[in-house]
Formats: sequence, structure tokens, C-alpha cells
Amino acid sequence: MRPLRPWALLLGALLGAAAARSYPHVAVLDGAAAYRLLWGRRGSALAFRLEVRTRGYVGFGLSAGGGMASADIVVGGVEGGQPYLQDYHTDENRALKKDPQQDYHLEYAMENSTHTILAFSRELHTCDPNDKSITESTVRVIWAYHHKDLGEAGQNYHGSTRGTKSLRLLNPEKAEVSPASLSYFDLINKDVPVPDKDTTYWCQMFKIPVQHEKHHVIKVEPLIQKGHENLVHHILLYQCSSNLNDSVLDYGHECYHPNMPDSFFTCETVIFAWAIGGEGFTYPPHVGLSIGTAADPQFVLMEVHYDNPTYTEGLIDNSGLRLFYTPVLRKYDAGVIEAGLWVSLFHNIPPGMPEFVSEGHCTLECLEEALGAERPSGIHVFAVLLHAHLAGRAIRMRHFHNGEEQKLLAYDDEFDFNFQEFQYLEEERTIMPGDNLVTECHYSTMDRIRMTWGGLSTRNEMCLSYLLYYPRINLTRCASIPDIMEQLQFIGVKEIYRPVRQVKCL
Ligand SMILES: *[C@@H]1O[C@H](CO)[C@@H](O)[C@H](O)[C@H]1NC(C)=O
Ligand SMILES: *[C@@H]1O[C@H](CO)[C@@H](O)[C@H](O)[C@H]1NC(C)=O
Ligand SMILES: *[C@@H]1O[C@H](CO)[C@@H](O)[C@H](O)[C@H]1NC(C)=O
Repeated sequence: MRPLRPWALLLGALLGAAAARSYPHVAVLDGAAAYRLLWGRRGSALAFRLEVRTRGYVGFGLSAGGGMASADIVVGGVEGGQPYLQDYHTDENRALKKDPQQDYHLEYAMENSTHTILAFSRELHTCDPNDKSITESTVRVIWAYHHKDLGEAGQNYHGSTRGTKSLRLLNPEKAEVSPASLSYFDLINKDVPVPDKDTTYWCQMFKIPVQHEKHHVIKVEPLIQKGHENLVHHILLYQCSSNLNDSVLDYGHECYHPNMPDSFFTCETVIFAWAIGGEGFTYPPHVGLSIGTAADPQFVLMEVHYDNPTYTEGLIDNSGLRLFYTPVLRKYDAGVIEAGLWVSLFHNIPPGMPEFVSEGHCTLECLEEALGAERPSGIHVFAVLLHAHLAGRAIRMRHFHNGEEQKLLAYDDEFDFNFQEFQYLEEERTIMPGDNLVTECHYSTMDRIRMTWGGLSTRNEMCLSYLLYYPRINLTRCASIPDIMEQLQFIGVKEIYRPVRQVKCL
């Protein structure tokens, strides 16, 4: 091993310090914490820094399905003291080919005794058909590293350690809060016996411990039991009636079950949502989730969706959420609106469809009624969580104002069921009375031979979006039920009387 020169150490330290400033986003891509990705926006480009525990080559790529086929790949390292970086792509047969047009630009590369560090940048849209455009949609990042450099190992991935992770690269920067200075409380399930079945929704009631003075929750983090990262699929937090008493806290129960306690039915307003793959959520500096006043949640129901497709027996779970709060109040209280398609059997998707679109409407009438008197100047949406199940491929949230379509409120054209989180909007969006929101879900059922129905299981479908907004108003759900007439026509019914058409607006 060649000794490191003092100037290299100094340079490394300087670049290390610069790195923290210029890369606001960090993700660990592998389970062994050997591969760290840092990135940040530079105008029309993204700058990346890879810190990987190897002295061989490092590969990084953007892939359509998360695999090695048809991916946009960059490989680099330091060999014999010389940095190298090359832009590649793979065809459908996963063969690695060098791009005629090189779009990844090396900024610097270095090695210490354990790690290789590569810094490079790339335009979001390179106009090279061999590259993948970087958009607000989810991207499947693929990563690899090898103990040898490219010259020695050759242009193949055999022997490399590799994997994939879903990320959103164009997520706007969030206001960082340092949790060290904040108080927190945990809402954690206690020894839930997860049944050996595909899907379980477990409901547990909690009492918010902060009760006598208004505070703002400004950050929420998932606390997932180690090893249960794939078991805990999503967590919803609902506000319940304040007329309950502490007897409801005694036990958890399966949700949506005939024996579910009556108290659970009083919990309608979603106040927080987390889903698999997501990190914690930080509210913007002018907004917080209010707790401690009479209008605020006192009892909350935590609904945890366990996904156990292998029917593993004997799983005991202790996962939940950590809520950080402060007495230093922010200007506005946050609220959540659930929009989209009412979850019901009226939502159905035929089998064998390469693409099938369902739409849920938060109608003009509903928003007029909810906003007109209470908030004529509108509400401001700052983050959205788009939610579907396993057949979901893309979700778009369309926004109409005065009958005219606006820019998409949010979209994910590469929806990944295993990566769902609140995505911050680049700019807050004002929703006015009389606006109209359409949640449009695109499904693929090519691999299914039976009808897919709307429902709670991950094999059933949903088409929902959760809007995080301020200031809080009295609107919780704004969803539509598909037209029963169309449904009946679809299955061949020719003549009907007393048509039913409903729009729910709570
Ligand atoms: C090498 O660099 C990595 C990444 O910056 C760092 O985590 C590690 O501590 C460094 N190792 C040594 C021996 O300096
Ligand atoms: C608590 O609520 C339950 C159910 O509503 C009721 O039966 C019980 O008497 C209440 N207990 C107290 C102490 O109020
Ligand atoms: C919202 O609803 C609550 C309870 O139904 C009511 O007390 C409150 O006045 C309403 N707020 C507004 C602004 O309409």
C-alpha cells in the first residue's frame, strides 16, 4: 500500500469539509453502510459524491426497473494514483457499453486507506438517449463496488457487491432542525403479535402526553424495530374523539375487524403518514402540527400496516413513531386532507391490462363547501404523499383552477410501492374554493388473471393522495366513489333504474 502524502490528507480534509456544505442530501445505499451517496442541485445539474468502502472501482447508476438492464451507469475509481470516471449504459441483455457521449463529469477522486471518494456532476437532461433524465419521480438507484479497479477487474460486474435503492433525487432541500434541542415523545407498539398472514392492519390508541399548552410538532421520525424494515409497510396516525377516556389505551387490536372497539371508529382525521422506505419528516419553518389545545388531538390511533407475504410465524413487533415538539410556536397549524378514490369495491381494475387508469375526484363542490366560508383565500399545500398498492405504476395529482388545468401538483411516473413518503413540493401550491383536484392512478395488471378490487390489502388497490397543508381547516377527506352506472355497464348490465351516484365530503 502506498503511503498517503500529507498534502493528500490535507486536500481530503478540505474537500470533506466542503462536502458537507455542498451536498444537502445523504443516503446510505447498502445494508452494511459501506456505500454513501451525497448529492445536491447545481442549477440544471446534480452534483454527486460517492464515499465507498473499497479501493477498487465504484459503480453508480439510474435504472428503470431497479435491475442492471437498460440502465444509465457511471463507473470510476483511482488506479495507480490516476482518477478515472466513465459514462456507460446497459442494453436489455445487461451488457455494459461505453456511451459515445460522456455526460458524467469528474470533479475529483481520491482514496484513503479504506475508502474511494468520487465527486462528479451531470445535467438533469442530457439529450443522450443512453442516459436517463432526472425528474421529480422516484428513481431506482443502482450501486456496485469491487475490490479491484476497472483495469484489473475488466468491464464486468462479476464479483462486485451491488444493489438497488429507490430515492427521489430532486427532492427540494428541507429546513433542517436539530433534534438534540427538542423534546420528544414516542408512540410505539408494544409486543404486537403479527399474524402469519399477508396483510395485517394493527390499531393502537395512544394519548398525546402534551396536554395543557399549545406546542408544535415539527419533526416526525419512524422507529422501526431492527430487522422489521420490510414488515412494517406503513403507519398512519389519526386524531380521535376527545371524549374518550383512558380505558381505550389498554389494548391494541386488528383494525377493520368486527371486534374492533367502538372508540376506534371515532378516529377519522389523518394527521400523519409514513410509508416504507421513507425517512423522517420535517415541517417547513412556518408550519407545525398543533398539540396541547382543546382542538388538537388528545387521543390518537396509530394504524400500522404489516406486510407478511411469506406468512412468517411468531413475529413480535415494537415499531412506531417519534414526535419532536417545541413550545416555540410557528405561524400556522398544519392539516392533512385525504383525496382520491374512496376505498371500496366500486374501485375495480380488470386483469391483464398493461395500463389502466383510475381517477379520484376532490370536486369543486366539495372544496367550495369546505373552503368557501372558512378560508376564502385558500389553503397552501407543501407536501404530498401519493399512495397506491402493488399494481400501481404511476400517480399524478392534477389541479384545476377556474376550470383551467394548472401545473401538476405532484407526480410520480415511476411509483415504487416500497418507497412512499411525503414529497415536498418545490413551491407551495394554493388551493382555492372551487378548485378541483384529480388523483390519477395508473396500474399494470399484466401479471394478474383475476379482477383487482379496491381494498385494504396490498393485493387490493387504492388511489389516494395525502395533502399536507396550512392553515388547518375542517376538511379531512375529499374523495369520490366511481360511478356505479359505469361499473355495471362494464360488467355487461344493460338496463338499470334508480342510478346511484355519490360524492363523499366529510
Ligand atoms: C476515508 O474516507 C472515508 C470517507 O470520507 C472516511 O469515512 C474514513 O474515515 C476515511 N478513513 C481514513 C482512514 O481516513
Ligand atoms: C370510560 O369509557 C367507557 C366506555 O365509554 C365507560 O364504560 C367507562 O365507564 C368510562 N370510565 C370512566 C372512568 O369514565
Ligand atoms: C371545525 O369544526 C369544529 C367541530 O365540529 C368546530 O367547533 C369549529 O368551529 C370548526 N371550525 C371552523 C373554523 O369552522
